[in-house]
Amino acid sequence: MPEEILQTHKLLDRCEKALAERYTVHKLHEAADKEALIKSVAGKIRAVAGGNVDGALMDKLPKLEIIANFGVGYDSIDTKAAKQRNIRVTNTPNVLNDAVAELTLGLMIGLARRIPQGDQFVRQGKWPKQSFPLLTELNGKTVGILGLGRIGKEIATRCQAMKMRVVYHGRSRQHDEPYIFYDKLIDMARDSDWLVIIAPGGKGTEKIVSRQVLEALGPEGFIVNVARGTLIDEAAMLELLQSKKLGGAALDVFEKEPQVPEGFFALDNVVLSPHQGSATHQTRNKMGDLVVANIVAHFAGEPLLSAVV
Ligand code: DGY
Repeated sequence: MPEEILQTHKLLDRCEKALAERYTVHKLHEAADKEALIKSVAGKIRAVAGGNVDGALMDKLPKLEIIANFGVGYDSIDTKAAKQRNIRVTNTPNVLNDAVAELTLGLMIGLARRIPQGDQFVRQGKWPKQSFPLLTELNGKTVGILGLGRIGKEIATRCQAMKMRVVYHGRSRQHDEPYIFYDKLIDMARDSDWLVIIAPGGKGTEKIVSRQVLEALGPEGFIVNVARGTLIDEAAMLELLQSKKLGGAALDVFEKEPQVPEGFFALDNVVLSPHQGSATHQTRNKMGDLVVANIVAHFAGEPLLSAVV
């Protein structure tokens, strides 16, 4: 009998096929009545492919052995609860570094040069009648990166290619990196023209980009968030953008996705994006392959490829 697994997230065809060839897959994300599905399969599920698993769901799945998260960020999984129940957790590191870094640079240029607004300006026939505003460039500016992990380093390399000066703040100084380290986020914000957020979400990082940090970035400062919406005090950010005490924001992530506070829609110093850092065919396939490979390794009794618990 094939092992039974619960899928909580849509994967690209190749990965869904790979799971279906090996296991009996129950698709929670497609179920009209999720509770009924969980109840009917609860005693059989040995793996979850996807994410969004809290302690309560773990308790409903007494045979659960592994959660293979679809994503590098695993803040939607209660890892402490998993550890207590001897459930392994994996994520999908590295394979999405380039995709997220490319989107980050796209958002930065899009915000600096107001590319989405320029598109609207042309489409709405305003070009012959009005002139588009003069804007700003990235070169020569300082970018402060919050979180110089695997993706942060890819962003740093690309910012350097744009002739920016790179500094960073994180849990600790990285002695093998050439960039200046700031002990305090607020000091880095004060000294930066751009603040790029690519630190992990979850417990311990909520609202670390506080009103004070945003005020330190100031009316000429731009913020870019490609990590998790929970890292920023979103209400304060909106207020500061509205009052022009913060120069601009490019946001791929939000506190309560897919809901976006409507106040952002009216602002021309903002670029909005639907949490699409890893959303390319190449990357989503690689992420799905890693989800499958971790589950396969687990059931084969082999070491997991990317364990976090
Ligand atoms: C991740 O992998 O954590 C990304 O946010 C998914 O897009």
